[in-house]
Amino acid sequence: MITLGIETSCDETSVAILNNTEIAANRIFTQEIHSEFGGVVPEMASRAHLSKIEPLSNAVLADAGMGIDDIDLVAVTDRPGLAGALLVGIGFALGIQSGHKKIVTGINHLEGHICSVLLEHPHLSFPFLALVVSGGHTAIYHVKHFGDYECLGQTVDDAAGEAFDKVGKLLGFPYPAGRAIEQEAARAADTGGLTFPIARVSPPGINFSFSGLKTAVRYHLEKSGFAGDPEQRSVVCKAFQTAVIESLRNGLLTASEETGIRNVALVGGVACNGALRVALKESLGETVFYPSPRLCTDNAAMIALAGYFRFNKNMLRPPRLQPGGGLK
Ligand code: KG4
Ligand code: ZN
Repeated sequence: MITLGIETSCDETSVAILNNTEIAANRIFTQEIHSEFGGVVPEMASRAHLSKIEPLSNAVLADAGMGIDDIDLVAVTDRPGLAGALLVGIGFALGIQSGHKKIVTGINHLEGHICSVLLEHPHLSFPFLALVVSGGHTAIYHVKHFGDYECLGQTVDDAAGEAFDKVGKLLGFPYPAGRAIEQEAARAADTGGLTFPIARVSPPGINFSFSGLKTAVRYHLEKSGFAGDPEQRSVVCKAFQTAVIESLRNGLLTASEETGIRNVALVGGVACNGALRVALKESLGETVFYPSPRLCTDNAAMIALAGYFRFNKNMLRPPRLQPGGGLK
């Protein structure tokens, strides 16, 4: 079974081909045009997707040594994401459907992230907890089976990756700033006693809040007269990163205690963070699994794998644009 995956929900244009569950080709084009604006500019994202989607598709077919006739199924992200960006992928997939008589299914981007861990860890058994931490989402799901998800908790304001990007902007890093903050944080031996508060969300439960943390960093920088000193920047990065990690770890430990589930999938762009990976492994042990960095951030291989599972479980659905919402 050959599946073509298409992902255009935000600022990565990606096309991939899976041979059953094996990656035959996976190309990811990261749009760097947004870096100077401190965040994704939707209209620019749509235009960049439009110019890249066809050349990328031709390139993955060439990488895999295949033609369009070899494709059995097309899986395209149709929710959630930027409306204009999603439309490019959906339109392209529907074009393949009508031009080449292929089966096309819509995929929820968050289901794709959850599946991303199974590309490299196919033996991770259900049920498991999925901590989805990206620029747009921060949530813990109880994954009962493929396609059966219960949201146990989520952020009430900013996503964890969004907090990294906003704090990065305060510190003068280009967007996206997660990787730069991690690298800066690693340069500081310790935080010299600097701590930032971990928000308590009311009512108590497995929820997260990161907007207050970003404000706390801003006040600290203003109060201390931050003027770009590299040592001070590293210490702030370490203290900020520690607060994010503690919040995610506390939420995950509570979810694990409440459900009795120890198998964990750490997915989404923030799952690239080495300190977060180490902290979760320290707390939950070797039952924490995560994809390699290239498969943590947005990519079409994870969308194709979700499509493959949907095909096998008779759960295909026509793509339908739905910019908002989570995962049901
Ligand atoms: O999953 P993703 O590619 O896109 C969304 O679906 O949002 O995640 C991108 C996010 C950005 O906010 C970026 O700053 C963050 O992932 N990120 C990181 C790291 N690498 C990427 N955050 C913390 N540490 C990293 N090493
Ligand atoms: Zn994503």
